Amino acid sequence: MTAKPSVLKELPADLIRDRLPRHVAVIMDGNGRWAKRRGLPRIMGHRRGVDALKDILRCCDDWGIQALTAYAFSTENWGRPLEEVDFLMTLFERVLRQELQEMIKEGVRIRFAGNLKMLPASLQAEIERAMEETRNNQGIQFTVATNYGGRQEILHACRAIATQVQQGKLQPDEIDETLFEQHLYTQGLCDPDLLIRSSGEMRVSNFLLWQMAYSEIYVTDTLWPDFDRTELHRALCAYQQRDRRFGKV
Ligand code: IPE
Ligand code: IPE
Ligand code: MG
Repeated sequence: MTAKPSVLKELPADLIRDRLPRHVAVIMDGNGRWAKRRGLPRIMGHRRGVDALKDILRCCDDWGIQALTAYAFSTENWGRPLEEVDFLMTLFERVLRQELQEMIKEGVRIRFAGNLKMLPASLQAEIERAMEETRNNQGIQFTVATNYGGRQEILHACRAIATQVQQGKLQPDEIDETLFEQHLYTQGLCDPDLLIRSSGEMRVSNFLLWQMAYSEIYVTDTLWPDFDRTELHRALCAYQQRDRRFGKV
């Protein structure tokens, strides 16, 4: 990863280490608007969005956050112009190839959440390689939601469970939350404590529908390519002010 100036390398003093979210999820929205405001093609926004993500990943790792999940491409994003979709697929592949050695060195464990079978074969191969080569790393768990849809994920889990019931391997009353979660793409990962959405939109856009049951939601007007460590710091401060009750009093 290309290093940005190492500002805010240490956890800012106003954050309480013991009360950091263990898992942060981000809806990286606003790349297109960022580009449009500068009179640039949308794809330039996606390029800059990758730079922002690289620094946020490193920052989470620096500050002791255990897991970061980033929404890179939704099941609905196929509906965008073909050139934009093609650009994104090529970008994902190139970035993955370029960044793999650095992620290995930094101990990042990368994985992908989504229906990966629909992605271009060459991207699937890079994904496989990256997951395999970082599998035993001990650093931050980095999940990239690619061709991800929360509803699709839930249906995928239902189908797998129904098959087991049909085969007589499972009784319907054995289906509980723990079992269900084992069939989600995020299997083994704790639920996000904090969901950040950039660019001001107050919606979840089919992201982590099951996992988000009790996530704290933070929305900023900042467009994703401008989302930096200062912005993350703000989001974490807001999170630490929240009173998480989980339905209790
Ligand atoms: C988010 O930025 C990136 C992807 C969905 C791939 P957008 O491309 O949605 O940017 P806006 O929302 O049009 O500004
Ligand atoms: C959500 O952003 C998907 C990603 C960030 C990958 P969108 O731009 O696709 O969401 P909507 O269309 O504003 O709901
Ligand atoms: Mg958008």
